[in-house]
Amino acid sequence: MELNFNEIQKKLQGKIFEVIAEEADQLQAETYIIGGYVRDMVLRRTSKDIDVVCVGSGIRLAQAVAGNLGKKANLSVFKNFGTAQVKYKDTEIEFVGARKESYDRNSRKPIVEDGTLEDDLKRRDFTINALAIRINKEHFGELIDPFNGLQDLEDLLIRTPLDPDITFSDDPLRMLRAVRFASQLGFFIYPETFEAIERNKNRIEIISKERITDELNKIILSPCPSVGFDLLDKTGLLEMILPELTALKGVETKESVGHKDNFSHTLKVLDNLARTSDNLWLRWAALFHDIGKPRSKRFDPHTGWTFHAHEFFGMKMLKGIFQRMKFPLNEKLRYNEKLVALHMRPIVLSDEEVTDSAIRRLLFEAGDDIDDLMLLCEADITSKNPEKVRRFLANFKLVRSKLKEIEEKDKIRNFQPPIDGLQIMEMFDLPPGRMVGELKSAVKDAILDGLIPNEYDAVYDFLLKTAGEKGLVVVKRI
Ligand code: CTP
Repeated sequence: MELNFNEIQKKLQGKIFEVIAEEADQLQAETYIIGGYVRDMVLRRTSKDIDVVCVGSGIRLAQAVAGNLGKKANLSVFKNFGTAQVKYKDTEIEFVGARKESYDRNSRKPIVEDGTLEDDLKRRDFTINALAIRINKEHFGELIDPFNGLQDLEDLLIRTPLDPDITFSDDPLRMLRAVRFASQLGFFIYPETFEAIERNKNRIEIISKERITDELNKIILSPCPSVGFDLLDKTGLLEMILPELTALKGVETKESVGHKDNFSHTLKVLDNLARTSDNLWLRWAALFHDIGKPRSKRFDPHTGWTFHAHEFFGMKMLKGIFQRMKFPLNEKLRYNEKLVALHMRPIVLSDEEVTDSAIRRLLFEAGDDIDDLMLLCEADITSKNPEKVRRFLANFKLVRSKLKEIEEKDKIRNFQPPIDGLQIMEMFDLPPGRMVGELKSAVKDAILDGLIPNEYDAVYDFLLKTAGEKGLVVVKRI
């Protein structure tokens, strides 16, 4: 990876770097830009977070920089951690003094002492994150690379600066970061580093679920997320974090009939979806769409392997996973439940005749998420049989055009019948209870089945007739 002096100097132009250099010189503190910012600079990726390390007090330097930048700068000091942050326009600059660190075995809390730049760099996670650029005026732009990070950037390698057992046991989150960088940047994990992850995987238990999820979200949002999930599986981390996914692995054969490996199928679906959508929660739905399969798997000597109702089992498993992983238990959970529960519906439709009433029901149940559901279903086609793929895609095209036509005609997407439960109670003087529910569903079904239009008069007449058959009379016209 070529990064010459002139190029570094060009990239470090701008008010922020000038001010940091000026104040660092004033304080006579050796100061460096370090970590992810330098890595991304070499990789020509944009980054808004700048990490600054100085040999001395990071807080004092941050205060001086904030003062110099004036009103537009916002300073936060974290005395307990010896760090400070300056926000300036859309850039966040973290300041810290160079330190020597060692870690307590049972937590990620470091025991910190002041140190040299070398001490600071060697306690970092990977060689590609252990690059520093001097910023003081006299040495402006000098690259410090004690662990050959530049070469590893060139060779696309994730490797720890120290013995990987030490680096990972210092902070086990780094095992997930290794996988995340590999997936995000398209890098490879160096064999010794990989083996150390296998050895230390159990230590992931001391990491909070929030931090784990944060890394998983970055992995799933990477351009080809199967790379990350495959590495998580191969290192043994996936089994510890999401055993519901590793349970999808394997092919069973009975009477010479096998079924597909649902884990590799799932990863293909995720990659397919990653090509059409950056929606984080839709990507999670792709990863979870078949998790109900192990529970629903049966062998029938006549039909072979079946996974009946796996979408229902899968939907039911999601709440537990979301709770355990500290995912939000709000509309994101409901969205995932809906997509997992409905993911077989368009496929079934494409096998049968695509009737208006089936389309109306699908629109009604999927609501505004219908487009995402269709993306998931299209991603779910992973057959190697080109004829099958052609047929499915052609049928989905038909489903899509029917969806459009019916949505324009009937406005079913967020459909509310023109007479609701309360009005039904008033009309027939009914207490809340089963009868009201039955009449409400009869109205909904009649509209979705196309027996009556979604209009007040038609619904009113339909209710009169249906309630009349049950012996009810109207007491109040609404
Ligand atoms: N770091 C580390 N161990 C960690 C987290 C961070 O050694 N568990 C070091 C790395 O040198 C890293 C720097 O701290 O480059 C800054 O960390 P962070 O901002 O979390 O990550 P970045 O590498 O900048 O990458 P990203 O912003 O993509 O998370």
